[in-house]
Amino acid sequence: MSHAEDHEGTRRDFLYYATAGAGAVATGAAVWPLVNQMNPSADVKALSSIRVDVSGVEVGTQLTVKWLGKPVFFRRRSEAEIADGRSVDVGQLIDKTAQNPNKDEVVPATDENRTLDEAGEWLVMIGVCTHLGCVPIGDGAGEFGGWFCPCHGSHYDTAGRIRKGPAPQNLHIPVAAFVDDTTIKLG
Ligand code: FES
Repeated sequence: MSHAEDHEGTRRDFLYYATAGAGAVATGAAVWPLVNQMNPSADVKALSSIRVDVSGVEVGTQLTVKWLGKPVFFRRRSEAEIADGRSVDVGQLIDKTAQNPNKDEVVPATDENRTLDEAGEWLVMIGVCTHLGCVPIGDGAGEFGGWFCPCHGSHYDTAGRIRKGPAPQNLHIPVAAFVDDTTIKLG
């Protein structure tokens, strides 16, 4: 890649995040610090696989980790959140596919198909709204008790599935797996 192309790529990234950030600020959302996105150092870019210690994450809370320039949500769901997510009929969903790279094939976006463990306690997702890239607010936000993106009003349910608003897809799921009881590997 020539220097000019490289610069072009960097500038596009900056504009993308700057636009998303500006929208979020106008509506008072929590914004992933813009400075993190502007100049990722070479060693951060190279770190395509990381291990995250989730031992300190209480039930009903979320840990956010920056990975490859994006926030990743590690949600340890409560019984109520799991029950809520599992009670939803896929036919009601806007985006009916799971888009889960950890599955061998495209599967329906059931709650079970989106979580990392069979019990459904752990939900790991890229924390970027599928509309224009803002970072949705968590902790039961929005009309469906999951995440809410205030930029243009997208509501996600407790499985991170888009239920209302302009976002076209469910929150994306990264390649992730437990490597031991308290460590999740991304990538
Ligand atoms: S970026 Fe538009 S609703 Fe999230």
